[in-house]
Amino acid sequence: VKVAISGTPGTGKTEVARVLRDRGHKVKELGALCADRGLLRDIDEERGSYEVDIEELDEAVRELENHIILVGHLSHLLTVDMVILMRCSPSVLRERLVRRGWSEAKVRENLEAEACDVILFEAIGHPRVFEIDTTRLCPEEAADAVEAILRGETEKYTPGNIDWSEEVMGWF
Ligand SMILES: Nc1ncnc2c1ncn2[C@@H]1O[C@H](COP(=O)(O)OP(=O)(O)OP(=O)(O)O)[C@@H](O)[C@H]1O
Ligand SMILES: [Mg+2]
Repeated sequence: VKVAISGTPGTGKTEVARVLRDRGHKVKELGALCADRGLLRDIDEERGSYEVDIEELDEAVRELENHIILVGHLSHLLTVDMVILMRCSPSVLRERLVRRGWSEAKVRENLEAEACDVILFEAIGHPRVFEIDTTRLCPEEAADAVEAILRGETEKYTPGNIDWSEEVMGWF
């Protein structure tokens, strides 16, 4: 099976991927795959990020072995058997993104995306979508949650349990 680990930047995809790799899972970061295969297209000056053609990326992913965890904020758009979304409360996510030295505008754009469930909505329609709230988890605990989902212990992780609206209403 191919599993996508997606989520807003800073929700901890790369950290959980590192732990899963250490535990023997086959893991591929899509950012690295895109760079290796020359799939990074026009740079979006405003965002300081590259555009990627999802079809081209899907093509590249199809050539990979079938038993793999694909990690990246576009992975939920690919042909995969399961999507696992990493979530993080916007207030904690803010701290993580500010610590990266990101501009206020870039931090804000991503907090809005997380607060509004943008990636969840993009993933809706996929038959197997799960969410992990990493706000109070260390990467090892997040990896435990991923492994539980892979074992089929999915009850706690079905979409609908994570809701940042209360926190966001506090901003107004
Ligand atoms: N579970 C966690 N608990 C505390 N801090 C974390 C956790 N996971 C990640 N972090 C921290 O948050 C920051 C972002 O994590 P990470 O790089 O894994 O995010 P990402 O989802 O891969 O982001 P991107 O989409 O930009 O690659 C890092 O500084 C990392 O140390
Ligand atoms: Mg990452």
